[in-house]
Amino acid sequence: MLHLVILTGAGISAESGLKTFRGNDGLWEGYAIEEVATPQAWKKNPALVLEFYNMRRKAALEATPNAAHIALAEAEKDFTISIITQNVDDLHERAGSKNIVHLHGQLNQSRSTLDPSKIYPIEGWQLNPGDTCPRGSQLRPNIVWFGEAVPKMDEAIKITSTADVFMVVGTSLQVYPAAGLLYEVPSSCPIYLVDPSASEITVPGSVVTFSEKASTGVPKALEDIKKSHR
Ligand code: APR
Repeated sequence: MLHLVILTGAGISAESGLKTFRGNDGLWEGYAIEEVATPQAWKKNPALVLEFYNMRRKAALEATPNAAHIALAEAEKDFTISIITQNVDDLHERAGSKNIVHLHGQLNQSRSTLDPSKIYPIEGWQLNPGDTCPRGSQLRPNIVWFGEAVPKMDEAIKITSTADVFMVVGTSLQVYPAAGLLYEVPSSCPIYLVDPSASEITVPGSVVTFSEKASTGVPKALEDIKKSHR
């Protein structure tokens, strides 16, 4: 089966009611990145950082997958699908997708501040000051903050390099190294772009563009891939 690799960003979850980061009313309009999403912020005010992610975890728990997440999950009957997501919500999982790499971590997980390999599920929406790992260290959200290494990047590059078709959905491609994945796409591999602001997004090479919301654009792009590349 054709290997379809999809890079998703906040835009795919927008119609589920979760805020994107940039642009009007984006999360970074309301919060300063350096106050809530950096190792320095964690050092300076861990309670504020925990509260920020508690709010986001609560919103994600209350959200449900939309037609775009569901279309990608259902497309597993037609393609071998790998999803590389910058999103920290679990809407791809809840839609039923199987192969998902979370480049920027997962809201529903905490991790030890002593040993980054020790990752724990979070039940409910709260991770609070005083919640500790078995060795006694304060647990932090399992989120990749600005200025931190992206541990899943090598895996994402490997997956991208084996794509037969590559699709980009709902990301401004402003954040690296994630955006650099576009340069790992094999030269013969067609690229599809689904984003209502597609004209503002720079993608290397020639691109089939659906300049619309993910809920309608993703099913159309999948249809086009089925017709053109099977
Ligand atoms: N359908 C598809 N795309 C949409 C929709 C929609 N309904 N609504 C908005 N978008 C698009 C916007 O046009 C924009 O291009 O989603 C994109 C969101 O871009 P960003 O807010 O920059 O989010 P993203 O690219 O995922 O951010 C990358 O930055 O802040 C960090 O770690 C955070 O993972 C995040 C990373």
